[in-house]
Amino acid sequence: MQAEIKKKIVRRLLEKNILVSSEMVEELDRLTPDELRQRLEIINASEEPQLAYKEGIMQGEAVTKSQEPERNAAIDKQTGQQQIRPPNVKIVRSYSEPTKKYEPADFVSYFNARFRELERILRNRQELSQVTSIARIISKTERENVALIGIVKEKVNTQTGKIILMVEDLSGEIRVIVDPSKQEVFAQAKSVVNDEVIGITGSSGNRMVFANGIICPDVPLTKHVKKAQEEGYAAFLSDLHVGSKKFLKDEFEKFLRWVNDPTGKHAHMVQNLKYIFIVGDLVDGVGIYPGQESELEIKDIYAQYAECARLLGQIPKHIQIIVCAGNHDAIRLSEPQPELPVEFAKPLYELSNLIAVSNPAVVNVHSSNGFPGFDILLYHGYSFDYYIQNVDEIRNSGGYDRADLVMKFLLQRRHLSPSHTATLYVPDQKRDPLLIDIVPDFFVTGHIHKTAVANYRNISLICGSCWQAKTDFQERVGHHPEPARVPIVNLQTRETKILRF
Ligand SMILES: [Fe+2]
Ligand SMILES: [Fe+2]
Repeated sequence: MQAEIKKKIVRRLLEKNILVSSEMVEELDRLTPDELRQRLEIINASEEPQLAYKEGIMQGEAVTKSQEPERNAAIDKQTGQQQIRPPNVKIVRSYSEPTKKYEPADFVSYFNARFRELERILRNRQELSQVTSIARIISKTERENVALIGIVKEKVNTQTGKIILMVEDLSGEIRVIVDPSKQEVFAQAKSVVNDEVIGITGSSGNRMVFANGIICPDVPLTKHVKKAQEEGYAAFLSDLHVGSKKFLKDEFEKFLRWVNDPTGKHAHMVQNLKYIFIVGDLVDGVGIYPGQESELEIKDIYAQYAECARLLGQIPKHIQIIVCAGNHDAIRLSEPQPELPVEFAKPLYELSNLIAVSNPAVVNVHSSNGFPGFDILLYHGYSFDYYIQNVDEIRNSGGYDRADLVMKFLLQRRHLSPSHTATLYVPDQKRDPLLIDIVPDFFVTGHIHKTAVANYRNISLICGSCWQAKTDFQERVGHHPEPARVPIVNLQTRETKILRF
């Protein structure tokens, strides 16, 4: 298996006119099957393979067109010049395409691009190595075992207790019948959502398929748990909601005092805290929902970001602050949301230690000689509401109290929002920006205002809490926020502590 992937990598590089040196082959020999698969995915996804190779794809970093050096820079307050960031924070994926008008054909191309990418991942699964197109399955007259890959167009629960999935690929569509007597596959079918791409094994007959198995793209089982060679801690915050009357200023200032006290109870942690991630909703925003104005302490969006910058400006400058937008920030709702706009958030960009990335984004931190660093997938989590409401498995197991279940669900689908209506999105035809094509070491989110820390197949799942007391809206929809908690990870051991402020 390992040899096969290595061959594929070499072949793909040669196809892209990249000379494969003996060092590169030796490097491949040192990698685990999981890492090899990841490299192959990166090479396939790379828009500029030459550039990707030069920039160190063999260290496991993806370089896309959107990764420009100036993105790792901030505006210097005095000179107005951009400052280059330290080398151990690398932006692997950040999206900055401006909004444009999209036609229905764009959505068709977008879904085709998504299908092709997830199909490629699914084809690596042993059960799906012999996939038949839907058109061929429909033409079969004999009942026989089949495997197919398709996108779920519709899901129906019948009165007789069956689940019918209408699944399509580029050749056609077919009904897939899931019988409750097959408990395992029936349980899987219950969690299937519209527009996700799945593999199905079963038997064909009468222009339909009777399912025996459902296979999600998923992340590899064999991912290696990376542990840093050098000391370092990372803290994960989200949902500050600065500007809200319910912003917990006292608690946030307590956090700021903590981060500035290298001699206190957590001296070792504070002394080695190197990264603070803030995963969206930095401010409460303006006009986000009807009647919001009466709930705002600061009614001006510029003043909200200025206050946010004043607070974050108190974080010591040796700590890198990495921020992305959320649905309350002053930017389009469609995902990916680009970096916070300089127009509104200029005071944040004046902080020399702040790096703004898109939502979602992938950032690599803490690399050192011989250590490739951690790939951190940041996503605010706007799609979470949909999956908490629509997936029984999540809703019945804790719903809004279990961000980790949503995160696991999305990793299994290798997509941050597979269903068309779960979030607004930009139908980019080149590459679906909400695909989870790089398997991260950390998947970090926010939005539901309650911390969750878990592990799924050696990926650390972390949801930040919030710095806003419970709002009337949250009361009405049954959220249980737990503000002012901060998960902090020891990057050498991967142990997480949740501190309460
Ligand atoms: Fe929020
Ligand atoms: Fe949010």
